[in-house]
Amino acid sequence: MRVLVTGGCGYVGAHTVRELSAAGHEVAICDNLSTGHRPFGEGYRLIEADIANQDVLAKALDGVDAVLHFAASAYVGESVVNPRKYIHNNVESALKLLDAVLASPARLFVFSSTCAVYGVPRTLPIAETAPRDPVNPYGATKLFFEHALAAYSVAHGLRSVSLRYFNAAGAHPDGSMGELHTPETHLIPLALQAALGVAPPLTIFGNNLNTPDGTCIRDYIHVSDLGRAHVLALEYLAQGGRTTCLNLGTGEGTSVAQIVLAAERISGRKVPYSYADPRPGDPPALYADSALAQSVLGWRPQFDISAILSTAWNWELRLQAMNHRL
Ligand SMILES: NC(=O)c1ccc[n+]([C@@H]2O[C@H](COP(=O)([O-])OP(=O)(O)OC[C@H]3O[C@@H](n4cnc5c(N)ncnc54)[C@H](O)[C@@H]3O)[C@@H](O)[C@H]2O)c1
Repeated sequence: MRVLVTGGCGYVGAHTVRELSAAGHEVAICDNLSTGHRPFGEGYRLIEADIANQDVLAKALDGVDAVLHFAASAYVGESVVNPRKYIHNNVESALKLLDAVLASPARLFVFSSTCAVYGVPRTLPIAETAPRDPVNPYGATKLFFEHALAAYSVAHGLRSVSLRYFNAAGAHPDGSMGELHTPETHLIPLALQAALGVAPPLTIFGNNLNTPDGTCIRDYIHVSDLGRAHVLALEYLAQGGRTTCLNLGTGEGTSVAQIVLAAERISGRKVPYSYADPRPGDPPALYADSALAQSVLGWRPQFDISAILSTAWNWELRLQAMNHRL
């Protein structure tokens, strides 16, 4: 299939582009490079533009069968202090993208959603049927877009899969790409960079939570496993699959303290850290029930937490050798 990938120069988008290409799909990327990296798009047709640019999108969508939409602003904390940015990019600009898609023949759409649509879960593991009650503007914008997709599916026949990722982590196994956010807010790169001495000591938010070791539990899913799930979602839609929302996680919770120990084991270095108060609205534990994605897509995560840490470590060493410049 011919696919347009928005945000294909970002972390999850770029890994998915590799998986799409390996599966034989023809990929073009639309990215404004606001947080993405041009080298991640090398070897593919890169349309350097904003998703809100309807003229460019109309041309980019010519002959395209499906759109995979990663482009978004994706910092929970920033969304709390600057909700306008999130409503603008993740809703207003994203709806313009949908207008361009509806004006084109493409009727298949895969959307990067998030477990943040659930807010603070009442039960674990979290299934797709759990109440959606986001506790920050980021999650609210993603939920709004899911609703828009559901409505456009009924009204306009735009069939979609919204993939609710838990915590994307790890790096490409061949060492060619990985996580590089500025600022970095994700635990695993921060722990590994602290071990290397290129980032401050890790701050662990909460050590007295209602979890077995008192630290936060999250569900870390390897970015290449996410990429493969997108390929399967695309193929599901191409075979006539109905609009749906699916969780993508391993179903295994890992605590911050366990991540620190694994980071020390894999790096052979100490991870310096200190404790701070838990962040408001940060649930003590989040992990997915991914049974639906497994049955609908036939998807199984292939990377465990050790593989996540070791691929991330290889990538950090490479970034350090390149002075964090791509
Ligand atoms: N990383 C995670 O753990 C995680 C978890 C759940 C959901 N997600 C979602 O996955 C998607 C990708 O996340 P990521 O971590 O790869 O982020 P990222 O910042 O690395 O990638 C986002 C990409 O989109 C581009 N972009 C942003 N706004 C754009 C616009 N208006 N027009 C064109 N390009 C634009 C950026 O330049 C970047 O290349 C996001 O939608 C995010 O909300 C990520």
